[in-house]
Amino acid sequence: MTLLSARGLTRHFGGLRAVDGVDFDLESGRIHALIGPNGAGKTTFVSLLCGRIPVQSGSITFAGQDITRLPAHERVARGIAYTFQITSIYANLSVFDNVALPVQRRGSRTLAADTMAALDRVGLAGLAGQTAGTLAYGHQRLLEIAMGLALSPRLLILDEPTQGLALSEIDGFKALVRSVIPETTVLLIEHNMDVVMDLAETITVLNFGQTLASGSPAAIRANPAVQAAYLGGGHA
Ligand SMILES: Nc1ncnc2c1ncn2[C@@H]1O[C@H](COP(=O)(O)OP(=O)(O)O)[C@@H](O)[C@H]1O
Ligand SMILES: [Mg+2]
Repeated sequence: MTLLSARGLTRHFGGLRAVDGVDFDLESGRIHALIGPNGAGKTTFVSLLCGRIPVQSGSITFAGQDITRLPAHERVARGIAYTFQITSIYANLSVFDNVALPVQRRGSRTLAADTMAALDRVGLAGLAGQTAGTLAYGHQRLLEIAMGLALSPRLLILDEPTQGLALSEIDGFKALVRSVIPETTVLLIEHNMDVVMDLAETITVLNFGQTLASGSPAAIRANPAVQAAYLGGGHA
């Protein structure tokens, strides 16, 4: 079943075609990776999906309904959660309170238990009382994921979540992503090709705002255009 579709999705910044007529389909219950060189339009593309940036043309369908013009908070209410490249935690609040906010937003009746469960999922339960801004950077990224998961989303969009994670934390991250499937579908922007090849069932490659290729990890790895534009460029 298709959870999300984009058709002809477009966002230009002046003369720059950041996202340029992208067609995209996301299957429910899967891990789908979005890769491509820096500046390819990955962050802009997912910003359009979650409503952080308005769409210029094209359409987005989520769970069978057109969400192209919905404001971001209404997309969150329909089950789209996201974390972005730039951390967006509340630095002065405790780790617990950062997660309690989205748990409350979801309308939970067991606030403390649900908050601790979300923290436990990312391995931060032991740091619940700490001020969020004092966490190591990698832990702040995990806290953001806990904030997203606290919404019990149908779709979780992660923009470069392993950036800043220690090698020892990456295995835990992979296990975490696998654990949310199939209730939550994951769209993952990721530069670490080991993580991509290990986790993703489908990979879409963006280049200059357009889809260069989309398919299984094996097909993407074997694709000459992808190798030339991305995999050959020292990223792999
Ligand atoms: N708000 C903006 N204003 C102007 N240009 C932007 C803006 N956001 C992104 N861009 C440009 O759009 C292109 C795609 O950026 P981005 O989506 O961040 O790529 P990626 O996430 O793949 O690295 C880049 O050239 C970037 O400089
Ligand atoms: Mg980006």
